[in-house]
Order: sequence, then C-alpha cells, then structure tokens
Amino acid sequence: MKEIGSVFKRRGNRRSFLKKSVFAAGAATLGPGLLGNELSAFIQDVKPGGLTKGDAAILRFLAAAEIIETDLWQQYNELGGIQDSEVPGGTGNPQYTAALQVLDGDMNQYIHDNTDDEFSHFTFIDAFLVAKGAAPVNLDQFRTLQGSTATGSSGKARLTNLMQLTVDTSWWTRYRSSANNPDLDPNFTFAQAIPTLFQGKFPAIPRNNNDLTPPDHLQAIANTAGFHFGFIEQGGTSLYPSLAQRVTHTEVLRVLLSIGGTEIAHFQTWHDKAGNAPPLTDPTTSNPTLVFPNLNAPPFGGEEFQTNLIMPEPCPFLSRKFPVCSIIRPTETQGAAMAAAKALTADGLFIGQTPQFFQALQDLASEADKARSGRDDED
Ligand SMILES: [Fe+2]
Ligand SMILES: [Fe+2]
Repeated sequence: MKEIGSVFKRRGNRRSFLKKSVFAAGAATLGPGLLGNELSAFIQDVKPGGLTKGDAAILRFLAAAEIIETDLWQQYNELGGIQDSEVPGGTGNPQYTAALQVLDGDMNQYIHDNTDDEFSHFTFIDAFLVAKGAAPVNLDQFRTLQGSTATGSSGKARLTNLMQLTVDTSWWTRYRSSANNPDLDPNFTFAQAIPTLFQGKFPAIPRNNNDLTPPDHLQAIANTAGFHFGFIEQGGTSLYPSLAQRVTHTEVLRVLLSIGGTEIAHFQTWHDKAGNAPPLTDPTTSNPTLVFPNLNAPPFGGEEFQTNLIMPEPCPFLSRKFPVCSIIRPTETQGAAMAAAKALTADGLFIGQTPQFFQALQDLASEADKARSGRDDED
C-alpha cells in the first residue's frame, strides 16, 4: 500500500485523507459519475466501507488461515470431538476419543469448541470482507485430499493432511524460557519437548481402523494430536498480533485483536493438556521410533519442561534494556504471513496438495506481508 502510506506521511495529509474518506462515503451513494478523477481513483483504493488494500490483504490471509484451521479441526472433531449440529460431519470414534481423554476428560468438548470457534472465525472474516466490498476467500477447489477412513470419519475430501505430521514442539520450551525470545534471538534454537515428533512423519488421527491397536500406538496418535493442537494454536496466537501491527483501520484492528485473543485462549488450553500426554513408546514406529518422554523427569523437568509451567514465562521483550515481561512470542511483523504459511507447510499439513494450492497460499501471504499500517503517524 505504497500510495496510502505516502498519504499518511504528514499530519496535514492525514487530515485531508480523513476528509476525503468522509466525503467518499457520502459521495459513493451519488455515483462515481459525480466524482473527480483523482477522488474516484482513490475510492477504488479505499473502499467506501473503509478497507485499505493492505487491510483487505491481511484479512484475506487470515481468512485462508482460518479455513485451513477449520478443515483440520473438523477432522479432529469427527473422530475425537462431540458430534452435533454446530460442527456436523462425523459420528465419532470411541477408541480415539478415549485415548484423547487420557490427556483430559473434557478433551472432546474442547475439540468441539475449538472447531466451532474456527468455523466462526473464517465465516466472520469472509462476511466482513464482503460487507466492506472486498473479495472473500474460498479454498473449496483445494479440498481434494483423502482423509481418515477409520470408523467415525465422514470420509469427505480434505484440504489438510493430519496423517503425516512433523510436529514442531519447540513452543513448549519457547514459552518456558526466561532468557530467549525468538524476536531478539532469531538464531537461537529452542529445544523440542518431543524430539522424535519433529524428526519423522506421524499420524495425529487414526488413518484407518488398523491404527486403533495396539493401545500404545493409538495413545501415541492421541499424544501427537495433543502436541499438534498446541502447535497450531500457538501459531494463531503469534500471527494475529504480528499482522495487527500493519493494519490501518481501527475496526480491522479490533477484529484482529478480538479473534487473536481467542487463539490465545485455545493455545493456553492445549498447552495445559499436552503436558498430560502419558510417557510411552509407539511400538509400531522405527526410524525414528516415536517416544513421548516423561517431561517431569531428567533430562527433562525443571524450568524448561516441567508440565505445570503453562503461563508464559517472563522473557526479554523489544530490548534487553527493559525488564523481562510475560508476553506472546514471536510477534515480529516483518514477513509474518509467509512465516506462518511456511510453518504450516513444514508441519506436513499440505502433503498431497497441488502446486496451485501452494501458489494460492503464497500469493495470499505475500500480499498480506506487503501491507503497511497507515496508523504510523498517530500520536
Ligand atoms: Fe481461528
Ligand atoms: Fe485457532
């Protein structure tokens, strides 16, 4: 949004922008024929409802991210959540549901509610875009992947793949670190809570009914899901504040802060539950063998791993000259959308997707990352 950015450079210009906006809203109802050329071009840029190109691009990327989240959460819900009219689809898988409930008796309720929330996020953002005269996002053409055929699955075609995940579990130590913040230490490597989960490709849902036994294999699948829930929602927790720094309009900022807060609520819940995943070795795996260690015993445990340390540990923020602060991290805004797209891709969620899908995701991310806030000159 170079043009809009330069409009905001000086305070005088910013005022004239506001005047034009008010005028534009009224003038739009009179029809474009009554407008001068310059103003008419400006209105094409800033829609009558007030979205800049950058705001629309950020909302469109978030809509795509929410559609992706919804698709994966629906798969979890069909097999391990509560089946009702709010999140219709599957019929539930009792064995997988029971394995998830080892982490918390309410897992099926939380999975249901997280799914319902994601549904509401993308539906709202798309409706908001349409109301502001911008194009909504629809990824239906990319729902082509074969999902689980286990009992309980709807069997419908999917956008995401939950059966070959490489789960980054470093969020576990990142949120326990008092010394390092990825924004200040971009080259620091946070330790993996479950190292082997980040080395192989593992299912987070039963792929078919053969995955329902032996018990430690099914529990490993449920444990994988437990850590994957945390991975997904810590991503949303960072993405919203990262992109909020580059929106222009207060109402769009309100949308990002308000939905972003729910992502944090999700993350906090899953952070708590993941620590209850029972230590075990998946007897069906090799190269690598999937091991869930006891996170409360050496070499784990302590400040970095202890499972009840679920509040964000105060860490350096903005600069080490300030006192440490309990915060969401990372929140770096530069390249945040592309970083999120890359993290989801590295997770294995899109294994089997078409080149067209990756191109669409990349286009949405790069447009969002081009957005520049018009708020920079505000006091
Ligand atoms: Fe969401
Ligand atoms: Fe979420």
